[in-house]
Amino acid sequence: MMNSRYPVTITGVGKCLPENVITNDDLTKLVDTNDEWIFSRSGIKERHVVSGNETASSLAAKAAKDAIEFSGVDVKDIDLIICATSLPDNLYPSTACEVQLALGASNAAAFDIVAACSGLIYGLKIANSFIASGEYKNVLLVGVDIHSRFVNWSDRSTCVLFGDGAGALVVQRSQDGQNDVLSVDIRADGTKASELKIPLTGINCPLVEQNTPELQCVNMNGREIYKFAVNYVPESIMYVLKNINLTVNDVDTYILHQANIRIIQAIADKLHENQEKFYVNLHKYGNTSSASIAIALTDAIEENKINYPSTLVLSGFGAGLTWGTAVVRWRAKDKRKNV
Ligand code: ACO
Repeated sequence: MMNSRYPVTITGVGKCLPENVITNDDLTKLVDTNDEWIFSRSGIKERHVVSGNETASSLAAKAAKDAIEFSGVDVKDIDLIICATSLPDNLYPSTACEVQLALGASNAAAFDIVAACSGLIYGLKIANSFIASGEYKNVLLVGVDIHSRFVNWSDRSTCVLFGDGAGALVVQRSQDGQNDVLSVDIRADGTKASELKIPLTGINCPLVEQNTPELQCVNMNGREIYKFAVNYVPESIMYVLKNINLTVNDVDTYILHQANIRIIQAIADKLHENQEKFYVNLHKYGNTSSASIAIALTDAIEENKINYPSTLVLSGFGAGLTWGTAVVRWRAKDKRKNV
């Protein structure tokens, strides 16, 4: 449980999806698959993919701008940018530095974190800790992944599942003394690292020995990932709620990582919760990895699916293996709508 010295609140959300949309039917031109298989196994109907000048940084910057406008924070007052991404445009510089440049957030420190589909929860843990300690006041947290450039488009078991996108949160020291980030717990199990990975072998110095780099694309043991998510995520949610003396009855809406509808349904069943409480938008975007929780929160707010105030459970799980859960109070209003 977090002992806040300074109270923390989330004041903005935003998202950006690439322009191009690929439907399940479109994928039948690439691999031996069909809409019925993809939709019944995953809940996905279509996904957005980058093209042309669209990059992880450009999507991240647009999602960030959206969240900043929602929150009304002055971009010059942002003192830290954290970007959760596993698929950056460059190994360096960081995507966070590219976002800083695009926004003109010249007073912000900036770094990336890698926690795959748990990246937003890991980032929220860091933002929360930095603000609660008094180190920073205004943190921009972005999640972005562009899997379309890192899947094997001839592997039907993986290429149908992912989509590209970016989502962002503005996390700030609360002005009215109320703490809204109630608890965040993050976990990892490196023993299962090989179940889901994108290798980055590199090329040896030719003076030493020649090597053959592995293909840089998603390798996934789908069944193991499914079992991991269904077993660990409900435990993580119960653990975090118990830590702050809440139960599932206190939760208004669950915003889980949008990987697979069957995973979300199984988690709801394990928690003995009504599936209506689980917001779902993965039919439109597929699995957008580090971005999915912030994109889902943005959509849920735009669709008036979140009451004011609300108690939300945010939960992520993915490669590492990593997983994590946050319980937050949502009471931010879109500043653009007050003008
Ligand atoms: N279209 C048609 N058939 C397919 C496809 C496809 N796209 N992909 C696989 N198949 C076939 C397989 O070849 C297999 O055929 P076979 O029985 O003749 O060998 C059959 O369908 C069943 O394959 P399984 O892999 O056993 O299918 P399963 O029911 O386990 O579903 C899935 C696969 C959807 C990947 C499931 O395991 C799953 O949801 N896992 C979780 C994956 C996930 O969510 N990963 C991301 C989370 S982590 C992160 O976000 C980075």
